[in-house]
Amino acid sequence: MSPFTPEQEKVLQGWAARYPAPLMGLGEALRQVQEWHRCVTDEDEDYLAEFFGVPRSRIREVATFFPSYTQKPTGRHRIGLCRGLSCSLAGSQSMCACLEKKLGIKDGETSADGRFSLETMECLGACDQGPALLVNDELKGAATEESISRLLEELK
Ligand code: FES
Repeated sequence: MSPFTPEQEKVLQGWAARYPAPLMGLGEALRQVQEWHRCVTDEDEDYLAEFFGVPRSRIREVATFFPSYTQKPTGRHRIGLCRGLSCSLAGSQSMCACLEKKLGIKDGETSADGRFSLETMECLGACDQGPALLVNDELKGAATEESISRLLEELK
C-alpha cells in the first residue's frame, strides 16, 4: 500500500517529469515527502525506490546525507542552529541553551505537543550571520535572545 495519497503521488510524478532524467527530481521529491510526513520513513523510501527505479540504498544515501531530511518525525516547526566553527565563535552554544530553555526540550528532541523540534547542525553556509538559525528550511540570520523570543512568538 502506498504511503501517499493519490494527490501526493501526482505531485511526485510531477517532480519526476520535470527533468530529462526522472531521478534528477529525487531531491525535490524527498523535500516534499519530508514536508508531508515530517520525516522520510522506510515505507517512503521503498515507494521512492520503486518509483524512481533505483535500489532503496540509493534513496537512503540521499535521505541520510542531507540534514533537510530526517528519519524521525520533526515538530511542526523545525528549528536548526548551526554548531559550525564560525557560529560557535559567535555564541551558538549560548543560543542553543536559550532555545532549549524556551522550548523546554534538548538538542535533537521534539516538544511533547509536536510543535517544535530543535537540532544543532553543521555549517549552514551563512558563516557571516552567526550564530545562524534555520527555521523550517528558511535561514533567519544571526540568533540573539531577542530574535529567538520574537521568532517563537511568531511561530505560535
Ligand atoms: S559555521 Fe555556521 S553557518 Fe557556517
